[in-house]
Amino acid sequence: MITGPTTLNAAETLAAEVGYYLTQTPRQLPSRALYDTLGSALFDAICHLPWYPVTRAERRLIGECRTAILDAAGRPARVIELGPGNGDKLDLLLGPLDHPHGITHVDLVDVSPSALSAATRLISEGRHLTVAPHAYRYEDGLARAVSSRADDRPVAVIFLGSNIGNFDPPGATSFLETIRSSLRADDALVIGADLVKPERDLVLAYDDPLGVTAAFNKNLLVHLNRELAATFDISRFAHRALWNSAQSRVEMHLISDGRQSVEIPKAGVAFDLRAGESIWTESSYKYEIRTFEAMLRRAGFTPAQHWIDREGQFLLVAARAS
Ligand code: TRP
Repeated sequence: MITGPTTLNAAETLAAEVGYYLTQTPRQLPSRALYDTLGSALFDAICHLPWYPVTRAERRLIGECRTAILDAAGRPARVIELGPGNGDKLDLLLGPLDHPHGITHVDLVDVSPSALSAATRLISEGRHLTVAPHAYRYEDGLARAVSSRADDRPVAVIFLGSNIGNFDPPGATSFLETIRSSLRADDALVIGADLVKPERDLVLAYDDPLGVTAAFNKNLLVHLNRELAATFDISRFAHRALWNSAQSRVEMHLISDGRQSVEIPKAGVAFDLRAGESIWTESSYKYEIRTFEAMLRRAGFTPAQHWIDREGQFLLVAARAS
């Protein structure tokens, strides 16, 4: 069964966020705006790139350890996935069973309506599950999902990919605390994190020779031109990815090729960019196991078990609310 989608008023929130981020120093844009329909399709393409190992490593881990992961998560009856994308990783975790491991409810929370409907279709197909899509940001979607919790059976929140890496560490800790506060003791969190690796590999993962990641990043401007009547000249921006080792993060920027003016009437902003000036669109923090598990503990979770793929690229942790 699929319940009707719940949705947010995307345009208003986007205008307010864009106005706020662009007037910061340095200028920024909200990374959530990367994921319109084309952006979600480009991100799916990134996940197939030989230079972006996150998805492949994670898929292999989930495929091989699915039962152990659900056991360590306390055999949940309900799974809430934040940011499922096209749903293929949860599909893999649930496996080929029509009553997957006693799970009866799945909630999917994603800002991208196109990704959400693809994920909803994939997860419900051939399974006896109630699947509820929530087209909301993580916090609001999570609140909606847990508010419909009807019994005492355990819940697992699932947060995969390198999504936690898109928060700065204080933001990540407080986001984990938000998840914890919506759970009861012994509920679970299954969370992925990308591990620190050599700089060359990290930069290639975010600046691939095919230019797919560059297109993904620049599409943020296409999205704002369409939704907010912005006047970005896409051809005058270059994609740049750099490893900031002091902060343990890959930074994604859009660099202006010269002096130019931009107007965004619907966000109430107009500004000039200098030659070489950057708009910072996203960061992807990379972790060491110990730092990551310490952060989980600080947020009120007890790590139960973790898995790392053979190449040492990616970490998956099952933790329980303490
Ligand atoms: N969550 C993804 C990550 O940090 C998002 C991502 C991948 C991304 N490639 C990107 C964001 C390029 C901006 C630009 O790995």
